[in-house]
Amino acid sequence: MYFTGGLSLLLESFSIKLSLLLLKYENWVLFPTLAKSTRVYYLSLEFYMGRTLQNTMVNLALENACDEATYQLGLDMEELQDIEEDAGLGNGGLGRLAACFLDSMASLGLAAYGYGIRYEFGIFNQKIVNGWQVEEADDWLRYGNPWEKARPEYMRPVHFYGRVEHTAEGVKWVDTQVVLALPYDTPVPGYRNNVVNTMRLWSAKAPCDFNLKDFNVGGYIQAVLDRNVAENISRVLYPNDNFFEGKELRLKQEYFVVAATLQDIVRRFKSSKFGSTEVVRVDLSTLPDKVAIQLNDTHPAMAIPELMRILLDTEHQTWEKAWDICTRTCAYTNHTVLPEALERWPTDLLQNLLPRHLEIIYEINRRHLERIAKLYPGDHDRLRRMSLVEEGDQKKINMAHLCIVGSHAVNGVARIHSDILKATLFKDFYEVDPHKFQNKTNGITPRRWLVMCNPGLAEVIAERIGEDYIRDLDQLKKLLTFVDDDSLIHDIAKVKQENKLKFSAYLEEHYKVKINPNSMFDVQVKRIHEYKRQLLNCLHIITLYNRIKKEPNKNWTPRTIMIGGKAAPGYHTAKLIIRLITAIGEIVNHDTVVGDRLKVIFLENYKVTLAEKIIPASDLSEQISTAGTEASGTGNMKFMLNGALTIGTMDGANVEMAEEAGEENLFIFGMRVDDVDAMDKSGYDAMDYYNRIPELKQAMDQIAGGFFSPDQHDLFKDIVNMLLHHDRFKVFADYEAYIKCQEKVSALYKNPKEWTKMVIHNIAGCGKFSSDRTISQYAREIWGMEPSLERIPAPDDPRQ
Ligand SMILES: *Cc1c(COP(=O)(O)O)cnc(C)c1O
Ligand SMILES: *[C@@H]1O[C@H](CO)[C@@H](O)[C@H](O)[C@H]1NC(C)=O
Ligand SMILES: *[C@@H]1O[C@H](CO)[C@@H](O)[C@H](O)[C@H]1NC(C)=O
Ligand SMILES: *[C@@H]1O[C@H](CO)[C@@H](O)[C@H](O)[C@H]1NC(C)=O
Ligand SMILES: *[C@@H]1O[C@H](CO)[C@@H](O)[C@H](O)[C@H]1NC(C)=O
Repeated sequence: MYFTGGLSLLLESFSIKLSLLLLKYENWVLFPTLAKSTRVYYLSLEFYMGRTLQNTMVNLALENACDEATYQLGLDMEELQDIEEDAGLGNGGLGRLAACFLDSMASLGLAAYGYGIRYEFGIFNQKIVNGWQVEEADDWLRYGNPWEKARPEYMRPVHFYGRVEHTAEGVKWVDTQVVLALPYDTPVPGYRNNVVNTMRLWSAKAPCDFNLKDFNVGGYIQAVLDRNVAENISRVLYPNDNFFEGKELRLKQEYFVVAATLQDIVRRFKSSKFGSTEVVRVDLSTLPDKVAIQLNDTHPAMAIPELMRILLDTEHQTWEKAWDICTRTCAYTNHTVLPEALERWPTDLLQNLLPRHLEIIYEINRRHLERIAKLYPGDHDRLRRMSLVEEGDQKKINMAHLCIVGSHAVNGVARIHSDILKATLFKDFYEVDPHKFQNKTNGITPRRWLVMCNPGLAEVIAERIGEDYIRDLDQLKKLLTFVDDDSLIHDIAKVKQENKLKFSAYLEEHYKVKINPNSMFDVQVKRIHEYKRQLLNCLHIITLYNRIKKEPNKNWTPRTIMIGGKAAPGYHTAKLIIRLITAIGEIVNHDTVVGDRLKVIFLENYKVTLAEKIIPASDLSEQISTAGTEASGTGNMKFMLNGALTIGTMDGANVEMAEEAGEENLFIFGMRVDDVDAMDKSGYDAMDYYNRIPELKQAMDQIAGGFFSPDQHDLFKDIVNMLLHHDRFKVFADYEAYIKCQEKVSALYKNPKEWTKMVIHNIAGCGKFSSDRTISQYAREIWGMEPSLERIPAPDDPRQ
């Protein structure tokens, strides 16, 4: 359709009205008990929000009214929604999790704030050009953002560089450069409970006098141009998922959000108004009773030395008192197992940028090692392992160790992940402070990931068990009483088919590809990573292709295999994996012998909005990481809730999914963590599998010999070489089990009734994976708060 400027203006004024409504709500919500209760601060460098309009309508129960209103204007709500840009301020699962948590915290009536950075450019847009990934800047603010409101009255200064002076009156950090942090607030409405929380994102502003101290003619222009240097801080999201890049600008970003947020926390703690009651506090000793700071990964780890700096240098507390307040306030979540994600900042970088913080970190370490030395006299190796400071060519600070020492609670994001942390990586720390270690299995919000993205399925469920399951996902268990009910089986299968037809139409319109909606939709969408093993999927595709070519007349189960995801721009292998997928597609999709029975599609620019379209249309969910590498995964849960079956390894939350739905209702294959460990000891020899398994050898020879890259035979040599000689993730070791398991999948798909019964078992087992459950556990077990499903009465609510 043709858009006039008027339509987007309308959308804007429409959503301005909605956000005004929300801001009004904010004033209604007085949190009657807030003066007594705790507030939780969720610090994260990423919030992968996606679109806001539909989610707002769902949570405020405005959907029908808005549909009706736009219809009266001769407009279509869905077309209107398609104009909204995704807020892509995240890389993948972690950022999306933060967004789900905000929804759950508001829906559970917790007084919670999300704090992060308002990146001018979010995660890049991915274009596929000649089969390769090309990155494009994500200029999401180009037409403005109607959901946010700038709050210049709360602007805060953040200091960098300078030097430390130890004076008689205490320690001073002087000669610093100042950057201002300007907050933008976005309302976060709970699900139909009249609670609206705030997500506050900071934007960097140069002060008016930036670089102007001693300008002369000509210097003025340069000084104004140089304001960019300061404002660079909030310019762009680093596009790495699970990978640490030790850039000064990134460290500046991390400190920027921490320093601005802590000033806000302290201000709010010292003086808050609750209606007519005003609370004024002079010192910070009760801070831990009122404030919980959740450090999402080590990215906001500087909160620990920053809080210490405030307590010591501004509040003039003793070290012991300050340390007690700090550790009781902070808690730390570790989100990955991969060592390459670990943040280790060089001390010379810290010395230059944040000299006072480095001093404090050294003192934290000195006291920490003193304690360990007392517990384990003479165990020098242990001291070295547990130190916050890593010696070597370049001295570095291990931020994970800083977080463990400076927090009262440490958790992993799935049971298997928490166990791995305790047993191996954080073992020494677990031995001295076992009470600190917890597990909090991740979750997803059922509002966005069911009610909003799959209304057909939500309704079929509501017809059987009512609507309460939307706030209390455990109630999905009630579906088990209908598992043999033909009408439910029929309805669930029908919704899936409708979603598939809708997605096929979308693909045809936007990507100009035609797919067979009666084929099995076999989907792997997530960041491209060696550990997630998109390459194992590729080997299955090639094997299937070769088999069909060999026996074209056999009764094959038709499949459309779709893979999507972004590769970090600097990650060579990941980009080559994308090229391999598109190359396989070019050969397979144009083979007339194969025809409709196998199609391979690379889904360009996977993001939250695309996830909302593809997941409800999927039959099979690929969760095939090497056991012990995916901390939790949340994509796996979204598929399960939307009626796709999982083929997966015993990794991350898959383990708990199998437990909840019954292992017989998932397609589990391959090595377990113990098998992988044993293989690490005995040695993994890829050549062994290559020589022993003819179909694997054939597939590899085709990749290596240019079968998929006729114009450049050695295009994939780096992938071939990696798989054969230095594959950290042991793709070949799971190849046979994976292929066998896929045969079972194909066989079951031929029996739609049995397939759908298995789907129902999966949906019924989803209760645990609501982020409401995750947040309730964080609230009770870490933050000392009590979640509530109560609806706060809003006296002047026009809808009451
Ligand atoms: C859920 C989600 C992810 C996480 O997927 P995993 O399979 O858990 O890695 C990544 N990107 C987007 C856009 C998502 O919605
Ligand atoms: C965790 O941190 C990561 C990385 O900064 C980020 O993607 C996300 O916002 C955070 N989310 C959660 C829930 O931990
Ligand atoms: C910041 O912006 C300036 C001016 O645009 C640019 O020259 C500089 O390279 C940027 N600095 C960093 C660290 O990105
Ligand atoms: C989480 O902890 C493990 C074990 O130390 C580490 O390998 C991983 O990199 C940590 N993650 C981050 C982001 O620090
Ligand atoms: C998970 O953590 C909770 C506390 O957070 C604990 O009670 C439970 O035993 C843990 N479960 C496992 C299997 O580790």
